[in-house]
Amino acid sequence: NVAAGGAIDSHTVLYGVIGDPVRHSKSPIMMNRAFRETSVNGVYAAFHIKEDQLAAFAGGVRAMGIRGVNVTIPHKVNIMKYLDEIDPAAAAIGAVNTIVNEDGKLIGYNTDGVGYVRSLKEEAMPSIAGKRVLVIGAGGAARGIVHALAAERPERIVIANRSLGKAEELAGAFANLAELEPIASGGLEEACGQADLVINTTSVGMYPNVDESPVGKGWLKEGAVASDLIYNPLATRFLREAEQLGHTVHGGLGMFIQQGAIAFEHWTGKPAPVQAMRETVLAALN
Ligand code: ATR
Repeated sequence: NVAAGGAIDSHTVLYGVIGDPVRHSKSPIMMNRAFRETSVNGVYAAFHIKEDQLAAFAGGVRAMGIRGVNVTIPHKVNIMKYLDEIDPAAAAIGAVNTIVNEDGKLIGYNTDGVGYVRSLKEEAMPSIAGKRVLVIGAGGAARGIVHALAAERPERIVIANRSLGKAEELAGAFANLAELEPIASGGLEEACGQADLVINTTSVGMYPNVDESPVGKGWLKEGAVASDLIYNPLATRFLREAEQLGHTVHGGLGMFIQQGAIAFEHWTGKPAPVQAMRETVLAALN
């Protein structure tokens, strides 16, 4: 199923991303580069879908034979009721970011958490086993990440959140998977001092609030890795300060690329051309 010279022809298979908003998404350029690089005869577009159009969209995917869909904010939870099957990890996380259409049967996956862990291991921390992890935030992103990190056998994961109740809820949901400890933000400085890996999953420090950081300068212990899911701007205040103090830092771009790479692998069965995908996204951000 390869079109001559990468042209769109009558065999071209459709893919896309849905979100509201969606026009800022870098997924189309990243995924179309991946298709070209691997000679997959596919084309990937962005669809601006409103909440009340999700059911119609799912019908459209089946009718048109769209093979793969990425799901972004705010639809990762609400799309689930229109799918035929949910992968167990996605069901546990309670959110879907990737749909695979198997001959009209729509299967939901979550590649965010595993994408995060793959990028962390490649770029900053080759093994998480036995490590003390601190996750800041307890929202949707934290949920996927805690689920994926738990499978890596850390010594423990502390979850710090502004509202303690949400941290407790998250820790309770995955208590069978790892040693999880919920704390309120008041305990953040002390928890930072004990962690081998500190991950910001909140929007604190995101553009335009680039002068904010969830973590005070110097709170991390020597040798600790600083990780932030935010990738625009490329380095947050949290990561800039950590880098100045000699810490290994890990930004959110790798997670974005790897969540896409794992989606690509679900759809095509081929290894994703990660380097080419990264190059394309970096060029678009600069
Ligand atoms: P996402 O899907 O990006 O995780 P979310 O589910 O809305 O988004 O979760 C946002 C997380 O960032 C929450 O943990 C939130 O804390 P609360 O549960 O207390 O609301 C956290 N967060 C957002 N803005 C914050 C801020 N200014 N200070 C501290 N935490 C913040």
